Amino acid sequence: MTDFDQRRRTLCMQLLGGLAGIALGGAARARPVVDDANKVFRLDGGGVTYAFGVNGEGQLQSLYWGSALAPGDRLPAPVQVPENSSNEMPVNLTPFEFPGFGGGLTVEPALKVTFPDGVRDLVLRHVSHQADDEKIVIRLKDVSRAVHVTLTYAMDAATGILARSAVVENRTASWLQVDQLAAASLTLPYSDDYRMSYLTGRWAGEFALQTRPIVPGSIVIESRKGVTSHQANPWLAISRGATEEEAGPVWFGALGWSGSWRIHVDMDSLGGLRTTAGYNPFDFAYRLNAGESLASPVFHAGYSEEGFGGASRLFHRYQREKILPGAPAPRVRPVLYNSWEATLFAVDEPGQIALAEKAASIGVERFVMDDGWFGARSSDKAGLGDWVVNRKKFPNGLAPLIRRVNDLGMEFGLWVEPEMVNPDSDLYRAHPDWVIHFPGRPRSEARTQLVLNLARKDVYDYLLKMLDRLLTDHRIGFLKWDHNRAWSEPGWPDVAAPGQQRLYVAYVNNLYKLLAELRRRHPKVEIESCASGGGRVDLGIMALTEQVWTSDNTDPFDRLLIQDGFTRAYTPAIMMAWVTDAPNFVNKRVTSLEYRFLSAMQGGLGIGANLNHWKDDDFATAKRLVADYKTIRATVLNGNLYRLVSPQGGSRRSATLSVAQDGSQAVLFAFLHSSGLRERQPRIQLRGLDAKKVYALRAIAGKAAPRTPERASGAYWMGHGLSVAMEGDFQAAAFALEAR
Ligand code: DGJ
Repeated sequence: MTDFDQRRRTLCMQLLGGLAGIALGGAARARPVVDDANKVFRLDGGGVTYAFGVNGEGQLQSLYWGSALAPGDRLPAPVQVPENSSNEMPVNLTPFEFPGFGGGLTVEPALKVTFPDGVRDLVLRHVSHQADDEKIVIRLKDVSRAVHVTLTYAMDAATGILARSAVVENRTASWLQVDQLAAASLTLPYSDDYRMSYLTGRWAGEFALQTRPIVPGSIVIESRKGVTSHQANPWLAISRGATEEEAGPVWFGALGWSGSWRIHVDMDSLGGLRTTAGYNPFDFAYRLNAGESLASPVFHAGYSEEGFGGASRLFHRYQREKILPGAPAPRVRPVLYNSWEATLFAVDEPGQIALAEKAASIGVERFVMDDGWFGARSSDKAGLGDWVVNRKKFPNGLAPLIRRVNDLGMEFGLWVEPEMVNPDSDLYRAHPDWVIHFPGRPRSEARTQLVLNLARKDVYDYLLKMLDRLLTDHRIGFLKWDHNRAWSEPGWPDVAAPGQQRLYVAYVNNLYKLLAELRRRHPKVEIESCASGGGRVDLGIMALTEQVWTSDNTDPFDRLLIQDGFTRAYTPAIMMAWVTDAPNFVNKRVTSLEYRFLSAMQGGLGIGANLNHWKDDDFATAKRLVADYKTIRATVLNGNLYRLVSPQGGSRRSATLSVAQDGSQAVLFAFLHSSGLRERQPRIQLRGLDAKKVYALRAIAGKAAPRTPERASGAYWMGHGLSVAMEGDFQAAAFALEAR
């Protein structure tokens, strides 16, 4: 094994440990039950049971995944699936937990390999298992060759969410190539009325909810872009029958991976349904030398009987308590100001100080200077990569601005895009070989920039040094970490051809390592994951960043739909939303400042408007609403979210309710696109309150209909509900209900 391979192997093992620590660490894991005699394994947590077992042939098969079974229920060991016809080999109807490509498998494999002699057949059989208080570890091996697979299953006791991952190890005497590796394959029982929900999108239109029936054949959602992507997000939900927002079975899951990924849902010819999630096999090849191993990302999978709302509440809780850097009790998001929409690249010391003073006056807690502060950066054409303060814009460095921001009582945050470089930069002129490229081929630019090859040690070392120095030399409390283009020409010429495609894994692992190391050295610094908006939102990056930039689309009405989609998968605790100017730059829509605030107050509140254009009234409105937001944000960010009226499907109305974990407060937001045809507003019935408690109603913005009681029981607010007085276009209202 070369030094290079040794380093990679060590890193792989460290990352496996690290990822396991992220995904599997912490208290309150569901204690597994192992029936050694029958080789049946069971995990119970929340309201969920997940069971699997080994048959006489050593095949590891799924047995059950759904609502909790009684502790004494015994699940029969799996059997060998009989031949249905000579055209459907039994392996294609077997509910494997981790199928290898081999033995006639033509449905989706979890692992596919190529051996040096051209053999591409892999039949995995159970070798051993081991359980401790937190997890079950299963070891599989190919029937004849020394390819070993270790599967890890750990279930969160509170939510029943299962974290699954796999490691493939080459113990043969030669190399082998991993063509495809998934974290898991998950099977659901035969049924003819499954539907799949997932999130697609584009720049300024992320988290668009799609739902379609599942019929025999395959549905693939994926990113081939080297980054999570706007176009599809690695989350899905599968419902059955008449599942609604608050009732019915939902199986859901998300892959924790910020590179190219694929989720493959296939229904076999008899109606068996399996979901396989892992690295995207497109253009993938990971050569393992003898003794090396490759870890998959983690797939986090859950089940709820309480519809899509129940599923997302469980997932939000899991993310807050198990995934986020602040888990189990992440800090609420400070109210931030960001200069991007106000100044674009035209940042300088007096301009930023003027904005900071105005931001402080309305109660902002974190002032963030966006793009444009470094190198020759006055547009997106130059400077990216040269992380030295631009002395024309900041003659005395950043210190005077930071001091002023701190004196105003705010924390200072800074924009960076470490993984990118403009060809017109000193960095690129010095190191043209540092970018992802194929030698002798064109290097496709996007936003006039190229992607640095973070898989390279010298690039990793440079970025660590640069960012460490930036954070050491300045009082920076927050980094907005941007990533504004997808990959192209994914070459890594310094590595011998068989190893080049390791790029897909090595890049992302080094990104995680870089973020983790910066966090270790600067534990007080918080980070936002931004990728031209919501292009890098997934459970992998979420373990290393406190918040995400949801979308560059800051139009408050469009945002209702984007935020609704976002919360299907991810918690509002990390979902940043800004109040910007009207007309909005994306679609020229004009809305009131209060409407813009209420839309943004459904997540982590930011302000991105040009405060130099605000009138006294605007400051007064903003000051009042920022103060109100601070009284409700813990509930909005960390409470239980009910999407009472969804904006999906073109609804003119929408409403959300967040209920604090301790039940002491609930927050209702209601929005109306436009009233028409003398249509009456239906009453909004709340959910999740304590029926016996009395709640006092406090209007934050807008009004309840005349004769709405000032206080009433939870039973009243949930049964009778309340009417919100809204008429006209782009109307919004918000109420807090305080338990007395
Ligand atoms: C894309 C981000 O999404 C924006 O918020 C802004 O930071 C720009 N990049 C800056 O170039």
